[in-house]
Amino acid sequence: KNFKICVIKGDGIGVEVIDETVRMLKAYEKILKSIHFEFIEAKAGLTELMTNGNAIPNETIEIAKECDAILFGAITSPKPTEISEELNKSYKSPILTLRKELDLYANVRPTIDYKSNIDFVIIRENTEGLYIKDEYYDEENEFAIAKRKISKKGSERIIKFAFEYAKSNNRKKVSCIHKSNVLRITDGLFLKTFEEIAQDKKYNGIEANDYLVDATAMYIIKSPEIFDVMATTNLFGDILSDEASALGGGLGLAPSANIGDKYALFEPVHGSAPDIAGKGIANPMATMLCCAMMLDYLKIDSEPIKNAVKRAFLEGNTTADLSGCLTTKEVADKIIDYLN
Ligand code: NAI
Ligand code: MG
Repeated sequence: KNFKICVIKGDGIGVEVIDETVRMLKAYEKILKSIHFEFIEAKAGLTELMTNGNAIPNETIEIAKECDAILFGAITSPKPTEISEELNKSYKSPILTLRKELDLYANVRPTIDYKSNIDFVIIRENTEGLYIKDEYYDEENEFAIAKRKISKKGSERIIKFAFEYAKSNNRKKVSCIHKSNVLRITDGLFLKTFEEIAQDKKYNGIEANDYLVDATAMYIIKSPEIFDVMATTNLFGDILSDEASALGGGLGLAPSANIGDKYALFEPVHGSAPDIAGKGIANPMATMLCCAMMLDYLKIDSEPIKNAVKRAFLEGNTTADLSGCLTTKEVADKIIDYLN
């Protein structure tokens, strides 16, 4: 079978970690035999902005739509003082634009820590909640209001996604994270929708429960082993996933996926790391774990990649951020070696 992979390297270490991940995937392709990957490169990021005036060209969106999956490195977002006023006005964030254009409504962030048995996944709704950016300021009375949209359809699709994810990844429990004791109408709808979907016979055997978001913030620190899959709204998911990444193995090990009904984009949580870019010492593991998530999405066995990354980690074959002394390329060499 043939799969088209759109590769967006971006800036800084985005280029370095993607190059090594693609090299690893090409090595894995040889082991798989009957599967063929076609890599199609597309541009986005600061370099693109400075040379062509657009951080995310339309062509990139078109290429992304023609592919089976998108692998995204990282981009540098310019500070407003670093670019001209004109570029500032027209600036569009590549990742936000792709999420919107491709309707990537589910943000999936596993928390991985090989040193402990922490292993849970946060599934964050990516399109509504407080992020509809519907705010206004009442000058006369000096107050500001932000609207928070929770729709039945939007809740259904993210909660179904969470249960389907649990089912296909052999996970045992889905927890709804909400604040329906206060936000009785919006989170009331989200929780009610969760309880309806949890009843579906399709999900027999998957435990369903719910936690208030404030308690969840505490449990993530105090007893993270109680979590398996969490389904939550946009802002709560944003905050909890950053909290969870501090608990896991750090930025060098944190993958993420943005998934919709038609398209899916896989990107490490980290950025372009200008402080270490060009030195060849960026940790490629997060991006390789993204690649494993991409294979899961394409229904291709990803276990050899996950196991190889874990083995390199446990054997101390790591970059400096994980206290190792290998280069990006040397870590990739080890992981490629362990694939067989
Ligand atoms: P960052 O994630 O790029 O770096 C934070 C720190 O972690 C740095 O000290 C960096 O060296 C280290 N680090 C990150 N990834 C690493 C890796 N794979 N291996 C070893 N060390 C690693 O975040 P920062 O510095 O706040 O942002 C840098 C640029 O990246 C900014 O322009 C920011 O806007 C952008 N950014 C882009 C993202 C994306 O493309 N999705 C996400 C986050 C930031
Ligand atoms: Mg965030």
